Amino acid sequence: MDTSQLTLKEFQQFQVFILKLCGISVPDNKITLLSNRIRRRLRATDIPDFEGYFKFLKSAAGKEELDGFLSAITTNETSFFRTEKHFDWLRTEFVDLVVNQAKAGERQRSLRIWSAACSTGEEPYTIALCLAENQHKLAGWKISVLGTDISEHAISKARSGVFGDDICNEVPEKLRSRFFLQHAESKTWEARPVLKEMVTIKRHNLMERISESGFDCIFIRNVLIYFSKESKQQVIENLVHAMAKGSYLVVGPSEGIFEMLGMLTKRSTFLYQKE
Ligand SMILES: C[S@@+](CC[C@H](N)C(=O)[O-])C[C@H]1O[C@@H](n2cnc3c(N)ncnc32)[C@H](O)[C@@H]1O
Repeated sequence: MDTSQLTLKEFQQFQVFILKLCGISVPDNKITLLSNRIRRRLRATDIPDFEGYFKFLKSAAGKEELDGFLSAITTNETSFFRTEKHFDWLRTEFVDLVVNQAKAGERQRSLRIWSAACSTGEEPYTIALCLAENQHKLAGWKISVLGTDISEHAISKARSGVFGDDICNEVPEKLRSRFFLQHAESKTWEARPVLKEMVTIKRHNLMERISESGFDCIFIRNVLIYFSKESKQQVIENLVHAMAKGSYLVVGPSEGIFEMLGMLTKRSTFLYQKE
């Protein structure tokens, strides 16, 4: 069997399948790239050709392979404090705003933040860090940070709250020693209970509506860049539906959705508010 490259027909079948599965639109000129990515899954599953692999993916038996397929076609790249100004805003302006609102009796002493497409957990744990740093201002508050992703592989890592040595380059020493426990033998850092208790991780596809609503802030960053226009619109609708009145949407620099956010009020280059 020839597994050098997808035929045009196979490529088009995968394009449709991927769009439906997760909203990503694979451009017509990416046949070689997609062939290379899928070929890795042929080796991993011991399936001899693209056609057989496609049939397997769509079958009940192939359900477990979907995650391997998704990992092959998407990137889980992430880091703590990625695009730091977003977290500077969260830990200062946002915290002061909600604390003042609570003092004025305009809100409950509770906060719900959603990291939508959280990959391996660095984003929700950075959010938790920003709130933990403010633990005196937020004493007695009920705080929850939800992290979701479509990839089981990514969320199982996120759920562990354990991170590799890269954290040393990303989280300042003072915060690291205060909020993480170092396991020297495995060269890992585990979030301490004060962070873990804030964070919940679950699987969720952005193309669907999440069952929760009333979030005070949602982070949507570095995920929608490859989504089709219709998929982006669907995701935005789903996110806005989950936002509380007066809440904020933090948008990554390359989502390509700025012109689609007309229903929200722009507060800065990355920040949008539901009025
Ligand atoms: C590059 S990571 C971004 C992680 C984090 N938001 C950040 O900015 O560092 C993109 C993540 O989006 C996830 N993803 C892709 N399509 C998705 C979908 N339809 N629903 C939920 N997550 C999705 C991928 O599994 C991947 O973990």
